[in-house]
Amino acid sequence: MRTRLPPSFVNPITIVGASIAAVSFIVIIFLAVLEYFDPAGSPYMGILAFVIVPSIMLSGLAIAVVGIWREHRRNRIGKPDRHMPILDLNNPRHRTAVSLVSFGSLALILFSSFGSFKAYEAMESDKFCGTSCHTPMEPEYTAYSNSPHARVGCVKCHIGSGADWFVKSKLSGSYQLYAVLFNKFPRPIHTPIKNLRPAQQTCEQCHWPKQFYSEKLVSKTYYTSGDKTVKWKLDLLMKVGGGNVEAGPASGIHWHMNIGNKVTYIATDEGRQVIPWVRSEGPDGTVHTYRSTDSALTAADSAKNPTRRMDCIDCHNRPAHIYRPPTRSVNHLMALGSIDPTLPSAKDLSVFVLETPYSDSTAAADSIKLAINEYYASNFPALRQTKGKEIDRMITEVQAVYRKNYFPAMNTNWKRFPDNIGHMYFLGCFRCHDGKHVAEDGKVLSKDCNACHAILAQQFEHDSVRIALKGVKYQHPVDVGDAWQTSNCSECHNPPASKERALGTPPGH
Ligand code: HEC
Ligand code: HEC
Ligand code: HEC
Ligand code: HEC
Ligand code: HEC
Ligand code: HEC
Repeated sequence: MRTRLPPSFVNPITIVGASIAAVSFIVIIFLAVLEYFDPAGSPYMGILAFVIVPSIMLSGLAIAVVGIWREHRRNRIGKPDRHMPILDLNNPRHRTAVSLVSFGSLALILFSSFGSFKAYEAMESDKFCGTSCHTPMEPEYTAYSNSPHARVGCVKCHIGSGADWFVKSKLSGSYQLYAVLFNKFPRPIHTPIKNLRPAQQTCEQCHWPKQFYSEKLVSKTYYTSGDKTVKWKLDLLMKVGGGNVEAGPASGIHWHMNIGNKVTYIATDEGRQVIPWVRSEGPDGTVHTYRSTDSALTAADSAKNPTRRMDCIDCHNRPAHIYRPPTRSVNHLMALGSIDPTLPSAKDLSVFVLETPYSDSTAAADSIKLAINEYYASNFPALRQTKGKEIDRMITEVQAVYRKNYFPAMNTNWKRFPDNIGHMYFLGCFRCHDGKHVAEDGKVLSKDCNACHAILAQQFEHDSVRIALKGVKYQHPVDVGDAWQTSNCSECHNPPASKERALGTPPGH
């Protein structure tokens, strides 16, 4: 066989290397075609197509180069030329060999394509997204699996379709792989995501913003702390609204914030919690610029921080990864009867053991059991006999809440991830609606308790129910003067670390 290649290219090592490179190249083409037809595929798929297989290809090429270099050295030290075997297709043995080799190569290519296709399928799955790099993704995956969006794939919100986001996600996917391999990921994972895809291209694929949601009844049951708890109930009629002027009613939260007005704002912190400047542009072109009387926006701030157009994520920032505050989970379990409300201090004891820091999840489960048992044994020794089953149930329920909401390995819990819907534990709506954002003409962003929801009914256990369609005046469960009106709810309900313990102090202290 005659060859036009320089003689030094023809040697076993170079041929092996070149074959590896060639097969990898074909696999890359195959994967690229797959990706083209399914652009919403997993970002980790891209790692295979654009990182792993290409590195195999590069190693193939490197081996080939080593072969060439060795040949040159052989020549320099005067070893005789290497003669490649002569291939003669008239020779039956050569023919068999050629068929075997060709068949083998074809099979190899087919199998590696099939293998990469399988890998592709696996990487597409949410299980992969959530569990392949177990430690860093565990909190997000667990919370997601318990959320209303548990059946919506990770990629539907995090990638969506389209070539530009596809490439962006490949790049960040490769970076994430590096971060996991070299243990460089932050604990907890940063939030908000800097370049999360705009909601129009993700959420709005399933939720049509102009769809009118009418009002939504949110019923809450609470239990006060103390030996003997008082149960109380609150019904909030959320004025979600929305709408399309041509097609029907247009009002409510979604209308004001998302459709009827274009709201833009500047936040001065990474978490988008401090918002000194807000602007709304109405459909008739009226513009209001609201400035906080608490914190002024300096020229340096506005130069440094981008103006952001408000979209779904600015309110619904935890649609899939919800870490619940312990008081909320415990109230809920007590209302269901899973935690017996007649157990003394059931509320504060549960909240206290959940909020105690533990080194890891196993230690947490053991310590929760120990602490609850010890508390009842030393304060109410007779209770084991009469309420043993209820105490044991309380322990399992509290352990389950811990597993779903606290992840010590990732330093992750509800406090680390502000939830912007509501205003009880984080500023949420009160980032702007704190009654302190004032426009040029004196208009104030409303903090009226019946602006966003009507407080339909409120009832304390031994009182009669107070009820009104337009909303009743809110009554705070414990007397805090008018602090609940003058300061933000989160100042007491999720106080900064230095002031902690005001709420949720251990029972009996
Ligand atoms: C319904 C849409 C949706 C789905 C489905 C979803 N996410 Fe998210 N995810 C979000 C939003 C919204 C954020 C917060 C964005 C922000 O605040 O900037 C987020 C944040 C994250 C973060 C950053 C840390 C944090 O908690 O804020 C990670 C990591 C993450 N998601 C991983 C996943 C994984 C893994 C899956 C699938 C198992 C998944 N997500 C499914 C919408 C979704
Ligand atoms: C692939 C479709 C899909 C996408 C994308 C999606 N959602 Fe949903 N969403 C759903 C479905 C389905 C439900 C209803 C779940 C149920 O009722 O069990 C839902 C429910 C909700 C709810 C009501 C939850 C509750 O507590 O009842 C909110 C709020 C919501 N989605 C917001 C969002 C936001 C914000 C995004 C973008 C980050 C988003 N969704 C993206 C399909 C989707
Ligand atoms: C100004 C804040 C805000 C913005 C912006 C916003 N929402 Fe909402 N949305 C709310 C509130 C508040 C509720 C009532 C939630 C509750 O109390 O459970 C709600 C409810 C919903 C629900 C549930 C309705 C139901 O009947 O359960 C869906 C779905 C939803 N929003 C989707 C979206 C989508 C999609 C976008 C973006 C186009 C969006 N929202 C933008 C505040 C907002
Ligand atoms: C980034 C600032 C910002 C945040 C955060 C915010 N809003 Fe608003 N909101 C505005 C602005 C600005 C207007 C006024 C629009 C105008 O000028 O008419 C408004 C108006 C409203 C209105 C109409 C009130 C009225 O009296 O006409 C409702 C209802 C509302 N918002 C609900 C919410 C809810 C619920 C949340 C939290 C989930 C929220 N907003 C969070 C900026 C914000
Ligand atoms: C800017 C809109 C807005 C204003 C103003 C507002 N709220 Fe709310 N409120 C919300 C939203 C949104 C939620 C979340 C509902 C949910 O959890 O589904 C909420 C939830 C609540 C809850 C239940 C908290 C929980 O997590 O258990 C209480 C109590 C409450 N509001 C009381 C008040 C009182 C009292 C005022 C007046 C000082 C007020 N709200 C003003 C939007 C508002
Ligand atoms: C000055 C501090 C303070 C402020 C401000 C405050 N609260 Fe409270 N709140 C308390 C205390 C103390 C309790 C009792 C906690 C307990 O019983 O364990 C409480 C209890 C509650 C509960 C019952 C909680 C549970 O887990 O059962 C709700 C709901 C509540 N407050 C709503 C609000 C709302 C809404 C606001 C803002 C409009 C607000 N609070 C502002 C101090 C405050």
